[in-house]
Amino acid sequence: IQQKPWGGRFEEATDAFVEAFTASVDFDKRLASHDIRGSIAHATMLERLGLLTGEELRAIVGGLEAIGAEIEAGEFPWSVSLEDVHMNIEARLTQRIGEAGKKLHTGRSRNDQVATDVRLYLRTEIDRICGLILRLQTALVDLAEREAGTIMPGFTHLQVAQPVTFGHHMMAWYEMLSRDYDRLRDCRKRVNVMPLGAAALAGSSFPLDRDYAAALLDFSGPAANSLDAVSDRDFAIEFAACASLVLMHLSRFSEELILWTSAQFGFVELPDAFCTGSSIMPQKKNPDVPELIRGKSARVFGHLFALLTLMKSQPLAYNKDNQEDKEPLFDTVDTVAGCLRAFADMMPHVRPNRSAMYASARKGYATATDLADYLVRRGTPFRDAHEIVGRAVRLGIDSGRDLADIPLEELRSLSDAIGPDVYQVLTLEGSVAARSHPGGTAPDCVRRAVADARVRLATL
Ligand code: ARG
Repeated sequence: IQQKPWGGRFEEATDAFVEAFTASVDFDKRLASHDIRGSIAHATMLERLGLLTGEELRAIVGGLEAIGAEIEAGEFPWSVSLEDVHMNIEARLTQRIGEAGKKLHTGRSRNDQVATDVRLYLRTEIDRICGLILRLQTALVDLAEREAGTIMPGFTHLQVAQPVTFGHHMMAWYEMLSRDYDRLRDCRKRVNVMPLGAAALAGSSFPLDRDYAAALLDFSGPAANSLDAVSDRDFAIEFAACASLVLMHLSRFSEELILWTSAQFGFVELPDAFCTGSSIMPQKKNPDVPELIRGKSARVFGHLFALLTLMKSQPLAYNKDNQEDKEPLFDTVDTVAGCLRAFADMMPHVRPNRSAMYASARKGYATATDLADYLVRRGTPFRDAHEIVGRAVRLGIDSGRDLADIPLEELRSLSDAIGPDVYQVLTLEGSVAARSHPGGTAPDCVRRAVADARVRLATL
């Protein structure tokens, strides 16, 4: 029987299956570097209180650092019978440095320890994910700048609606990601609170200096209530919700790229390096990366619901249920980071097909609203103008012509408010250029949006 750190009151060894069943070390070893950092801060604080001597502290710090190196080198002897990352590291410390190692857990419980580790881990990962969002945004801004004047059909109901610029469309994606970024930064504030000192649930009988420990770990401060500190997983749920919104956005971008790369659209070409072929159909080039990202949104949404359900109805304070927070959280981090990275790597190599987008915008009477607006400027009430243009579109459909191809006399038979200058508003270029207010699709507005975005990206 291996000695358990908690074995004192037990008379029987743990059932072998139960030991493996309740262990988390296989996945929570990912927290090791954060566990070590948290332990060093805790020990430093204990020494300040006189609960450790300077010599003991030096032995603990040296031992933990050596263990960190051992883990990084893949040489750490992980043991399932020591259950989790926390007890593995602590047991190893005592094995390496002796008596001083046994003092590390003074005034601490695995309950505040694990909550601290997960927060340190998530804080680091949020920063990395935010960096990936900015990288993808930079790629979108570059593309928007190059394609500020590229005309494409804009859609509602996936039917041609009005012409827009490709750059404007890229900047729409950029905006979604800016909200995602802001949400993650805000979420980070609630992640960045320190549970340490809450101990098992009630706090510690030692006069722990929690402010000092929080400062050592760059937390904004200690959690205000010990019961809440060990039982709260809101921060993980909130992160999963932020990640779900990122994935929801990426699934929309993916869906558009998948449509746009089809022969029926042909709006963009994806780099070969991001596509795969078919084992049977030699002509195929499949948009695997966007398809997979569209699919991966499902698992992240699932993790959000797993975490919500995990916490639903849980009584205070810590319960072993909480061990189940890790795999969904880790997989959420891996998935959102992987998807952002793939997108950020791919977007600089996406080649828009300007002529295909232009030709497509010419179909579907995309400038009909411009004609109605033209009539309004000539004194026709909008509802009447709508009706007149509707009849012009009908004329075009019946005779297989675009609005710009219908001769002036024919248009004038529908309304004598129409003059020879009407063809300026019927062109795609005229239509997009007319929408030149802030937030509009005109090439000038896109360039202004790009300039604003560059200022923001440079300050973050
Ligand atoms: N492995 C545990 C977890 O992930 C650590 C905390 C265990 N605490 C306890 N009282 N069993 O939640």
